[in-house]
Amino acid sequence: MANGEKQLSEEEFSHNKDWRKLPENIRPNENQGTMEMSDLVFEKIREFFHERTGNWLGEEKRYLVLYRLSSLVGDQRLYKNYEAIHHRLVEDPYGEDAHQIITRLTTHYSYFFRESEHFQFFQHYLLRNKHKSEEIRIWSGAASTGEEAYSLAISSILCLPQHYSKVKILGTDISKESIEAARKGLYNRGVVEQSLPPNLCREFFDSIGEKCRIKDAPRSLVQFSNLNLLAPYPFKKKFQFIFLRNIFYYLNAQGREEVLDNLEPYLEKGGYLVLGRMDTAPLNKRSYKPEGENIFRKV
Ligand SMILES: C[S@@+](CC[C@H](N)C(=O)[O-])C[C@H]1O[C@@H](n2cnc3c(N)ncnc32)[C@H](O)[C@@H]1O
Repeated sequence: MANGEKQLSEEEFSHNKDWRKLPENIRPNENQGTMEMSDLVFEKIREFFHERTGNWLGEEKRYLVLYRLSSLVGDQRLYKNYEAIHHRLVEDPYGEDAHQIITRLTTHYSYFFRESEHFQFFQHYLLRNKHKSEEIRIWSGAASTGEEAYSLAISSILCLPQHYSKVKILGTDISKESIEAARKGLYNRGVVEQSLPPNLCREFFDSIGEKCRIKDAPRSLVQFSNLNLLAPYPFKKKFQFIFLRNIFYYLNAQGREEVLDNLEPYLEKGGYLVLGRMDTAPLNKRSYKPEGENIFRKV
């Protein structure tokens, strides 16, 4: 970055109340009026987003909302101002524009083998159960662009080199764009190389210029589809593992309860619910026993 300034992450940005102090390259364009979002419009946009996704945008997220929508707003852009965004949401709440706005407001950050203790736990489970012939079904319920689901697939191949085809992984996300990217399985090479040792990069990815594509073997274990965690689930079979990591953090109390109620019938007794390190979920009154860092066994 120019003159050695530290690039602010979006989260850091969201806590910075005075946008004038932000580096110029991420400062929303004040000439086009993009800094004007009334309290009422912020309130309406966050209510809409909450109703549709369960994600709660606290007051401290106001600048994050402003920033994530700023490229849509301005004289030559899709919406003249933030109020026009709100009008569009009211006019067509289930249309493509509303979906795009939801996708922009949602955090999709992920990387391979994020929170590695969970993959170690999963690998131990596979090794303990390697002689059993039954299918092992895993759901990555906030899969984003697929890194979590493919890390589970790579773990399965490493632990069960002869029998990995019995592992079935389903990756779902509310964002159609994330799911399309997950299906493509194409990632920036630098990002992949930062998360995996060189031998695993070579074994599980093909290099294509500055990108890396996941190979067929891990890909063959994973299916992706679009699913809102708040909507009814279409599953016919239960899962032994449900990974719902780095999503509860964004939900408020009501959203957390709703998601836990929804998933309960789809986790096998004795199966595991895995949450992210930063996530909290009201599991104490439910039938779960802690088994590791934010890993819970259904009893
Ligand atoms: C921060 S990413 C987590 C990715 C991955 N689980 C990880 O831990 O790296 C959160 C994902 O949850 C998805 N999400 C948010 N609300 C959702 C909902 N109501 N239903 C399904 N997915 C949702 C977002 O689209 C986003 O891709």
